[in-house]
Amino acid sequence: EFAVVGVAREPMTSDAFRARMRQSLEEFRTGDIDPALADALVRRARYLAGDYTAPATYAALRDLLAEIDSSSGTKGNYLHYLATPPTVFATVVHQLGAAGLVAEADGRWRRVIVEKPFGLDLESALALNQELRRDLAESQIYRIDHYLGKETVQNILVLRFANSIFEPLWNRSYVDFIEICALETVGVERRGEFYEQTGVLRDIVQNHLLEVLSLVAMEPPTTGGADDIRTEKLKVLKSLRELWSDTIPRNVVLGQYRGYRSEPDVSPASVTPTYAALRVFLDNWRWQGVPIYLRTGKKLKQRLTEVSLHMRPIPLSLFGRSDVCEHLDPNVLTIRIQPDEGISLRFASKIPGNDFAVGPVNMDMKYLETFGGEPPEAYERLLLDAMRGDATLFSRRDAVEQSWKWITPILRYFEENPPAGLPNYDPGSCGPQSADDLLHHDRREWREL
Ligand code: BG6
Repeated sequence: EFAVVGVAREPMTSDAFRARMRQSLEEFRTGDIDPALADALVRRARYLAGDYTAPATYAALRDLLAEIDSSSGTKGNYLHYLATPPTVFATVVHQLGAAGLVAEADGRWRRVIVEKPFGLDLESALALNQELRRDLAESQIYRIDHYLGKETVQNILVLRFANSIFEPLWNRSYVDFIEICALETVGVERRGEFYEQTGVLRDIVQNHLLEVLSLVAMEPPTTGGADDIRTEKLKVLKSLRELWSDTIPRNVVLGQYRGYRSEPDVSPASVTPTYAALRVFLDNWRWQGVPIYLRTGKKLKQRLTEVSLHMRPIPLSLFGRSDVCEHLDPNVLTIRIQPDEGISLRFASKIPGNDFAVGPVNMDMKYLETFGGEPPEAYERLLLDAMRGDATLFSRRDAVEQSWKWITPILRYFEENPPAGLPNYDPGSCGPQSADDLLHHDRREWREL
């Protein structure tokens, strides 16, 4: 009782589409493929060529879906996945609406997944939400952020709320600062045109990093239900201290890798940032005064996404010789989102020997060793959740608007005051010197790559 219909402008037969699906499965799917399952899946694929703006495309889609309903038992339940350019999101939804393809009735469900970027700033995000609401109820809209589909991101909730030992320490009394990073080794590849309009603040910070931050900093929700979790995440975004023209230069550092300007479809004078480091604060009881450092960029030394809670130093060290002032490394809890998925805790240990020498050691949980096999692809989980009607891992309207509300003044500031000195970091490096200076100013260092 399942079928996939691919719709795009490119003319193609269903057979050619199936061949492409099979090829892609082999090329991109990690792990073993069950040939019988792959056959069954590919057999259920159909293709329809058409212009997104033409009503005829949607009339043909309606006929095709009706035929599939009777041949495959799909009962009129449709999940429309808009993996389209963002400029046509509203058009496609209006056309689906006009063709009667999103109306829910008689127990059948109709849902729409909207890809990112969801708007380019607060104004356009508000406008897009309004457009979508002309044809859809909020409960039918699934705004996707693939970070939320990552096992390790979901495990932040489990680590915090299924254990009793972390939560009592998870606050300003014990946490000195928090680091969240999403570092990539790849550049913009062939997405120069998209990236020129987006830049790192819209591409990663507004969505992926703020989603992770919300999960790390939220209060325990009343239940594990979608809305209770999303309401707590929203409160985190609402407590983000706003940055204005006088505080932005001190708290936000941008970078661009050398060579970006010669990527395809990139302007030779581009000031689009490919790197950002930010110091942010949450004005609430739990986190007041705890700096949260966000760092993300392309073409860096290492691919690494992780969250680290750096705990406060001990008040007094009892160890070390009287003539040597011993510095003990504070505890750090690190959630490695990718790669080498896992969780590690750094703590002090006695180094074997006759002296009371103390050094840091790590307790390390690795997903691969513990559970065997790679964690599933984020998109697999999210598409399945959308089919099941579980919106927990999708962004709610108010949260998307709130994140744009916070970041839009920063975007505007840099539009009016383009960052000077770009490009400012080498491919394969750890990022610009100014990002290190941001932490040195607070007498801190980024975790070493
Ligand atoms: C996407 C961004 O949302 O996330 C890309 O548009 C980025 O620029 C990608 O490369 C990173 O995702 P992942 O899962 O590889 O960390």
